[in-house]
Amino acid sequence: MASHILVIDQGTTSTRSIVFDEQARRVAIAQAEFAQHYPALGWVEHDPEDIWRDALATARKAIAESGVAPAQIAAIGITNQRETAVVWDRATGEPIHHAIVWQDRRGTDLCQTLKADGAEDLVRERTGLLIDPYFSATKLAWLLDHVEGARGRAERGELAFGTIDSFLLWRLTGGAVHATDITNASRTMLFDIHRGVWDAELCRLLRVPMAMLPQVHDNAHVFGTTAPDLLGAAIPIAGMAGDQQAALFGQACFRHGMAKSTYGTGCFMLLNTGKTAVASKHRLLTTPAYRLNGRTTYALEGSIFVAGAAVKWLRDGLGVITHASQTDDLATQVPDSHGVYMVPAFVGMGAPYWEPDARGAIYGLTLGASAAHLARAALESVAYQTMDLAAAMKADAGEGAAILRVDGGMAANDWLCRFLANMIQTPVERPADLETTARGAAFHAGLATGVWSGLDALEKLWSREECFEPGMAEDARAPLVAGWRDAVARTLAKPV
Ligand code: G3P
Repeated sequence: MASHILVIDQGTTSTRSIVFDEQARRVAIAQAEFAQHYPALGWVEHDPEDIWRDALATARKAIAESGVAPAQIAAIGITNQRETAVVWDRATGEPIHHAIVWQDRRGTDLCQTLKADGAEDLVRERTGLLIDPYFSATKLAWLLDHVEGARGRAERGELAFGTIDSFLLWRLTGGAVHATDITNASRTMLFDIHRGVWDAELCRLLRVPMAMLPQVHDNAHVFGTTAPDLLGAAIPIAGMAGDQQAALFGQACFRHGMAKSTYGTGCFMLLNTGKTAVASKHRLLTTPAYRLNGRTTYALEGSIFVAGAAVKWLRDGLGVITHASQTDDLATQVPDSHGVYMVPAFVGMGAPYWEPDARGAIYGLTLGASAAHLARAALESVAYQTMDLAAAMKADAGEGAAILRVDGGMAANDWLCRFLANMIQTPVERPADLETTARGAAFHAGLATGVWSGLDALEKLWSREECFEPGMAEDARAPLVAGWRDAVARTLAKPV
């Protein structure tokens, strides 16, 4: 019986394909970085054709390198950068515009109008989200308003909207299937997370024709099969999930109270709240974590827009490093940040502040400050932001996570994990396999096709590599935290 799973993990800056065996061990991996487009201040776009090209090329490469025959691949899982909006022509499959990326802020004015019209409670109650340009809806509204003829074509049913999972599914099935999963649908700001359906009232409010929306399914579900000429066999696409929910699943956080934090371009912390959709009083998001056999498990989410992106900026924007990995060496060359704080609000601030107009800032510069202090401040900012989320979660959920599981590229850094444990005053657990996002998508695809029998079997596949215990004395910690709070307050203060 076929027992390998191919996962396409389509992230913000790169696309990876990974082949897993039935023990969830990585057999092969292929990766490609793709171009980022910044056509105006605060705008971020991707060319969907780049994404498709890399998804296909890396999938083919990973299969070839795995030595596994395409017919031996039981299923494909897709996981993706969430919220990023694509609209394409149903007849030709061609996108009508570049994808508008989750980091893009062009929906800010529309969000202000929605807030002024008093839509905040409606949005929060139905979708679990706050009104922010981060989510797909205002990106989609922009496309309908600014691409010539788009609205008419959408109303006539000629155009399809999707997040990246949906677009890849469409292409992989040769245009046969227009669908998404509950986690991706829930990030559009058009989806009722309680009833599990697109919300007609929100669609009306944002003037989105419902005919362009994909069908929504469970995460472990046979969505369709690949057109056979693409990958050498007709393979079922049997698992889909937004990357952060996939990481929670890949971290085997199946029980109420378990939490994970993923350090990629941004940082996203999710706390499993079980069958209850906890309404946040501290500006976190309520979001489906996964839906299996029609039953939804919910999570509270804290979304930070910049984590690894700050390191990328040190490299590409400032040129103080040539490789991302140098940040770790630089940061540990110095005993502290020398009073330097970076608030990485490059694309506004996410949870729990939600200030799309905020911009990045560095404080505390003296003549003694060096590139090493900047690198240190960039890494520390990631831990401080997680600390803010952990505090908000604790306030919302009564008790916070007893342990935080970390993953993503930056979680490989021991120093950062230790500093994080000290700031959140909670043990930080690092799994043996940091590819938890892809694992989560593999788990869904494997559940739907019988490779794994259920959550118990998946739990056994998770193993811990290291646990970082908090150990910093409060009189050392408190001034660091106070310095961060001061830096955030200054960044959020509106100029007079
Ligand atoms: O919500 C955006 C998130 O899904 C992007 O994830 O891994 O590309 O930073 P990542």
